[in-house]
Amino acid sequence: MKVQQLFDLTGQVAWVTGAASGLGFAMAEGLAEAGAHVVLADLNADGIQAAADTLRDAGHSAEAMALDVSDLQAVEAASARILATHGRLDAAFANAGVSAGPGPLTGKGHIDDLDAADWERVLRINLTGATFTVKAAARVMRPRGQGRIVVTASTAGFRGDGMVGYAYVAAKSAVVNIVRQASIDLAPDNVLVNGIAPGPFRTAIGGGRMHQKETQDLFASRLPLKRVGHPHEIKGAAVLLASEASSFMTGSVIHVDGGALAW
Ligand SMILES: NC(=O)c1ccc[n+]([C@@H]2O[C@H](COP(=O)([O-])OP(=O)(O)OC[C@H]3O[C@@H](n4cnc5c(N)ncnc54)[C@H](O)[C@@H]3O)[C@@H](O)[C@H]2O)c1
Repeated sequence: MKVQQLFDLTGQVAWVTGAASGLGFAMAEGLAEAGAHVVLADLNADGIQAAADTLRDAGHSAEAMALDVSDLQAVEAASARILATHGRLDAAFANAGVSAGPGPLTGKGHIDDLDAADWERVLRINLTGATFTVKAAARVMRPRGQGRIVVTASTAGFRGDGMVGYAYVAAKSAVVNIVRQASIDLAPDNVLVNGIAPGPFRTAIGGGRMHQKETQDLFASRLPLKRVGHPHEIKGAAVLLASEASSFMTGSVIHVDGGALAW
């Protein structure tokens, strides 16, 4: 197969959670540009409609889905609906996530600040919601004997990270191992499971703090590339992991992080 064909997603159906903004929207855009029909899902019903409209206005094939990834019944109904409507689900991106606030290096987010309700909320979305999405995708992919599942982890899942809160590092390190576990589980059915671990990106996460120059400079100072990422810089990894180009990859997590984990 030639390289152009390796990355071609024409005729495929991809599902991206947390696609109303930031990395999820950029992933959906990349997949659509590679030829896939994309189902953009998000808790933010107005935002996801606008995101799908943006892709359609650009000439792509896209639809919106209001979805709370922490509701297993809703997530399973969503993947079943995609299968019923399109007859296939080729790639699922478990991307929805929230911040757990700043970490101890920022002067906040020390262990004494840990709040039980906030801990539960972040784990429920970032770990449980991502795992529910993997489950729901596997359920419709297994019988077809093919599929790609991609989980958005974080560099904070590979080390302690003083810039982000406890619940965030806990959830992200756990999803890295969910990727590995599911890759073993689903390999016999030819469903490949991988992850993307972003470093700091300029998105709406954490109430928009990644758009503040002061926060960007703080994160950038800790990276070899000395800048935070722009969401479009996630597209390549997303298309790679959805496409034939990654046919021998499963259980991997790709770091797209400006070199964050190099030191
Ligand atoms: N931006 C970064 O620096 C960074 C770094 C590493 C990892 N990540 C991860 O990337 C993913 C995307 O985050 P982002 O930075 O694009 O943030 P974002 O806030 O721009 O996008 C996250 C989206 O997830 C949605 N969402 C939140 N809870 C949801 C739920 N229960 N069900 C469905 N959708 C829900 C939000 O409405 C939002 O549209 C997250 O998993 C995040 O942890 C981000």
